[in-house]
Amino acid sequence: MAQLPFAGMHTVEKLKVLENYLAAYQKVLKNTNFETVFFDAFAGTGEIPIDEVGGLFQDVEEADPFIEGSAKRALGVKPPFSRYIFVEQNRRKAALLQDLKSDFPHLSARIHIERADANIAVEEFCKKTDWTRSRSVMFLDPFGNQVGWNTIEAIARTRAIDLWYLFPAHLGINRQISASGNFDIHKGASLDRVLGTSEWREEFVAQIDRENLWGETEQVSFKQSTVDSVTRFMIKRMKAVFKGVVLDEWLPLGRGGNHWYSLIFACANPSAKATEIAERVARAVMTRK
Ligand SMILES: C[S@@+](CC[C@H](N)C(=O)[O-])C[C@H]1O[C@@H](n2cnc3c(N)ncnc32)[C@H](O)[C@@H]1O
Repeated sequence: MAQLPFAGMHTVEKLKVLENYLAAYQKVLKNTNFETVFFDAFAGTGEIPIDEVGGLFQDVEEADPFIEGSAKRALGVKPPFSRYIFVEQNRRKAALLQDLKSDFPHLSARIHIERADANIAVEEFCKKTDWTRSRSVMFLDPFGNQVGWNTIEAIARTRAIDLWYLFPAHLGINRQISASGNFDIHKGASLDRVLGTSEWREEFVAQIDRENLWGETEQVSFKQSTVDSVTRFMIKRMKAVFKGVVLDEWLPLGRGGNHWYSLIFACANPSAKATEIAERVARAVMTRK
């Protein structure tokens, strides 16, 4: 097999975590009466071109130009889920997702493709599903600040979904604030929407009194948040709404070993047994091998 360039490794690592969790989930639930649903809210096409994940193939012969994306990996899990919901906003990509039905003909009746905004599709799914008979794993894999806090709350309210969220801790949040603690009105509003509160302003930006050259006291501000503290902030917010568990640890991911995103796990199911299993499996699949 062609060796994957380092730049693409974080994408593969993320997808491996998801795939391993889905396989364990299906094994655990196979002897229950629950319908199981894999909900991929930012589904892409099922395949990821290597150049999209930052690969450089000059040194690699016979390289496969694609790696399998989340949708394809989920369809390969055994035993299969009762239903697969793939949501994608981009028209061209949503059309390409239809090919999955011919790639996995034995599962085609279980595959549902929606061209929609993820937030709207997730909220509808959470509201319409009968959670007394269904259980679901949801994957939120946005490029940036697309996931609103209302969506996170809707997932938590189901008390039935296990969530993997690629939280854009650096790219979407911390990078939007300058070293001197400034951000424009649009960036501020975007952070409010993703974090579901304006309280981050006090936590991420410090104000101190300083004497200037003329002996006058002036107030200066600076950014004190880091990508880790931003992630901890989000985990704390999620713990307030998820009645099962939100893991304190996360997987830092990003091109070239940089921490751009934090892969966070949360379980909405408050049952002690479900929580214990979800926590144990999530921790095991997240551990770097
Ligand atoms: C990081 S990619 C997802 C990759 C995919 N999970 C995979 O493994 O192949 C993010 C995808 O979300 C789509 N997207 C962006 N904004 C969206 C939105 N608001 N709702 C649904 N999809 C969106 C993009 O077109 C893109 O395909």
